[in-house]
Amino acid sequence: MARHVIAAADELPPGTRKFLEIDGRPIAIFNIKGEYFGLMNRCPHQGAALCEGPLIGLAQSTDPGEIEYTKLGEILRCPWHGWEFDIRTGQSYCDPRRFRVKAYPAHVEPGASVVKGPYVAETIPVKVESDYVVVDL
Ligand code: FES
Repeated sequence: MARHVIAAADELPPGTRKFLEIDGRPIAIFNIKGEYFGLMNRCPHQGAALCEGPLIGLAQSTDPGEIEYTKLGEILRCPWHGWEFDIRTGQSYCDPRRFRVKAYPAHVEPGASVVKGPYVAETIPVKVESDYVVVDL
């Protein structure tokens, strides 16, 4: 494991991301409201450049007709098929295989639970040391 200084902290202000390649591996570092997160820029579904997707929020519902939009700017949507990943953990949400355009019999399920998807994007620990953003990889 080698230490890589990838930017001065002030070069990566909140709301920005930086793409780089370390040892041939495509990586993106995000500054989300002053916290830094690293992800492999490869979607675990079919390999799209995941980190080029938009940052969105997570829609959750506790009751029919009530939608709460949480984790604003912390969910990364893949540009190819729209699968959504929590930028903090890499966990995908909502399994697209369950939401095909097809008729299904209706049934009742408990609300308020967000369905975790089958894939997890690879995350990379990021630190700030002496005003530099550092990745150990
Ligand atoms: S390649 Fe990312 S959702 Fe399909």
